[in-house]
Amino acid sequence: MVHLTQVVFAGLVAWPTIVTAAATGDNKAWPQSVSLKSFIGTEQKIALDGVLANIGPNGTRVPGAGPGIVIASPTKENPNYFYTWTRDAALTYKTLVDEFLFGNKALQPYIEDYIHSQAVLQTVTNPSGKLLPSGAGLGEPKFNADGSRYNGNWGRPQRDGPALRAIALIEYSNYLVKNEEKERVKKVIWPVIANDLAYVGQYWNSTTFDLWEEVSGTSFFTTQSQYRSLVTGSALASSLGLSCDACTTQAPQILCFLNSPAFFDSAKGHLLGNINILSFSRSGIDANTLLGPLAAFDVNAKCDSPTLQPCHSKVLSTFKVLVDTFRDPKLYPINAGIQKTKGVALGRYPEDIYYTGNPWYLITLGAAELLYDAVAQWEKQGFVAVDKTNEGFFKTIYPLARAGTIYRAWPVLNGLSAFSAILSAVTTYADSFVSVVQRYTPASGSLAEQFLKTAPGTPTSADNLTWSFASFLSMTRRRQKQFPTSWVPSSSSSSSLTKVPSTCQATSFKGTYAPALSAGAPNLTITCQSTILFQVNASTYYGENIYLTGNSSDLGNWDLGQAIPMQSSNYTSERPLWFAKVPLTAGENVRYAFVREQDCGQGWIWEDVDVTKGNRTVSVPACVEGEEETVRGETDDAFRGKGGSSGGC
Ligand SMILES: *[C@@H]1O[C@H](CO)[C@@H](O)[C@H](O)[C@H]1NC(C)=O
Ligand SMILES: *[C@@H]1O[C@H](CO)[C@@H](O)[C@H](O)[C@H]1NC(C)=O
Ligand SMILES: *[C@@H]1O[C@H](CO)[C@@H](O)[C@H](O)[C@H]1NC(C)=O
Ligand SMILES: *[C@@H]1O[C@H](CO)[C@@H](O)[C@H](O)[C@H]1NC(C)=O
Ligand SMILES: *[C@@H]1O[C@H](CO)[C@@H](O)[C@H](O)[C@H]1NC(C)=O
Ligand SMILES: *[C@@H]1O[C@H](CO)[C@@H](O)[C@H](O)[C@H]1NC(C)=O
Ligand SMILES: *[C@@H]1O[C@H](CO)[C@@H](O)[C@H](O)[C@H]1NC(C)=O
Ligand SMILES: *[C@@H]1O[C@H](CO)[C@@H](O)[C@H](O)[C@H]1NC(C)=O
Repeated sequence: MVHLTQVVFAGLVAWPTIVTAAATGDNKAWPQSVSLKSFIGTEQKIALDGVLANIGPNGTRVPGAGPGIVIASPTKENPNYFYTWTRDAALTYKTLVDEFLFGNKALQPYIEDYIHSQAVLQTVTNPSGKLLPSGAGLGEPKFNADGSRYNGNWGRPQRDGPALRAIALIEYSNYLVKNEEKERVKKVIWPVIANDLAYVGQYWNSTTFDLWEEVSGTSFFTTQSQYRSLVTGSALASSLGLSCDACTTQAPQILCFLNSPAFFDSAKGHLLGNINILSFSRSGIDANTLLGPLAAFDVNAKCDSPTLQPCHSKVLSTFKVLVDTFRDPKLYPINAGIQKTKGVALGRYPEDIYYTGNPWYLITLGAAELLYDAVAQWEKQGFVAVDKTNEGFFKTIYPLARAGTIYRAWPVLNGLSAFSAILSAVTTYADSFVSVVQRYTPASGSLAEQFLKTAPGTPTSADNLTWSFASFLSMTRRRQKQFPTSWVPSSSSSSSLTKVPSTCQATSFKGTYAPALSAGAPNLTITCQSTILFQVNASTYYGENIYLTGNSSDLGNWDLGQAIPMQSSNYTSERPLWFAKVPLTAGENVRYAFVREQDCGQGWIWEDVDVTKGNRTVSVPACVEGEEETVRGETDDAFRGKGGSSGGC
């Protein structure tokens, strides 16, 4: 999630205004005299309560949230996270489904509420588009707490949401299928999942905003999660006697892309968080590449699986690069003086300046979880393969490591087993990341989004962040050697979905979409539409946005709460272009106008056109069934009237 106020200027996503970090919660740190085990035991309960307190309708910290709606954080100011993000909600629910499968049956009503809430959200028309006919609306990253559309300017679409939601719902559905509820899955849950899988199959090869909502391109985390959704979707479809053509045709190509050289900087030894970026200067070192393998974890998968598991050589090498980057006290002063063999506080990426760019709880916990995962995978496969790529990772904590394979079955010499020694060193290393979190957790146990990179590491940004709590829960389970159900087809299976094609192709499978009526989605009527590209030259200052509205419900009927936020990704000083592609009902005449949204709460500035008699009109040409997304008409306008001025906030 993130969460920057998305300000777009001159074709680049600009950095947010830095807000003075508001100290959150109490600053009294968790007593260090308490053992790690005891800290984890206490915090595990706080974390589960913390997650549930942020879910409507009964969540004590989020009054007003609808049933099954996960609020990112109860914090409403500096920053306002009182919204539901599709990604955060899905990752949270994946963890809750795991908890349910580990035996917490009391969670079932929450999961059922989630299914219903998502079936409805899928049908909410939003600035990314609609469910029908193209599925475009499924890429919307966030909604208001009551499930209504969020209309502000934002980094959209974000294509990881549908994949992650499908993953969570599929895991739950697999449980129901095994427990004699196959018919209910088929009727109620599958239609929700099928929309999301169709979306992934259709759009995986289109650019997206990343999970931090800042970069438009291709995100490693998104691609990896998309792959998993289609593989598990295909298996669920089979078990229901259905098929998923989007899954079977697209999954191999996503896997090919994921393993392509484009995602790995072999000179520097790390996976790249974002590629296909138009113009950008970042190292590509990004915790996105750590969270992806966590979301793809399968304890039974082999380390050389192209699914890029926690114990994969490239993932371990990336881990080392990421940790070494944040170990630098010039970047994070609180990491000064920590031994090389111990974990440190980790953040999103080294160039981060959001809230001054601090360590995140969920990433530091994610590092521990990744190492527990890897240990479990080595235990399962019975050997550790050290190679040129991951040698550096092993040497940090086990200086004797050399390229070669270390088998569990080797005879123990002088009471020493190299295999056990390595696993034990990695486990100790994992624990040391949890100890970092213990050090910076306030005595109340609340987990914010971040803690300051300077002493004393005060919690900052949003408080009681749902995702932070969820990451604590999953880390704890892995440490206790409790694992989610497997999903990677074994190499001996006949599945072709885990074989990497020899050449990668840019592909897409056109999806069909329908409201999941049995899960409670409203019926939608569909009119054939044609897409109009609205273009307006409007010089804006940093922080100012342009909206489009008009006399059609698709343009919000002059209501600015429903207007279309325009995009500025092609804005240059030569051409200050703002644009929006909007499907409109074929054959209509539509009147429209542009409106400036000023910064600092200074309000709106309408164009100098009389809204009731506004004289800009566009005639929407005839539609072509199945090609509603093709641009069939465009406008070329210049904003009329005065410009705004920055409020300087
Ligand atoms: C977060 O939780 C702590 C501990 O329960 C509480 O004191 C604080 O008010 C909460 N913050 C928010 C924004 O809900
Ligand atoms: C929320 O509270 C209502 C009323 O007590 C109850 O019926 C419902 O099951 C609760 N929902 C969840 C998810 O616990
Ligand atoms: C689409 O797929 C091709 C082939 O793997 C790849 O080279 C390209 O970067 C992808 N583009 C996007 C936007 O995903
Ligand atoms: C949903 O709407 C469509 C189109 O108006 C209609 O054909 C269909 O019967 C409706 N379905 C239900 C279950 O009401
Ligand atoms: C924006 O720029 C890209 C890359 O040059 C181009 O492909 C696209 O058509 C442009 N879009 C608009 C609406 O001008
Ligand atoms: C919008 O304005 C156009 C042009 O005046 C008109 O033809 C059209 O009927 C209006 N649409 C609606 C929904 O009133
Ligand atoms: C539309 O309105 C603007 C502003 O009142 C005026 O300058 C322009 O001439 C009008 N255009 C047409 C085609 O009527
Ligand atoms: C918008 O700017 C472009 C580039 O300067 C120009 O070609 C076009 O005519 C402008 N459009 C209007 C309506 O002024």
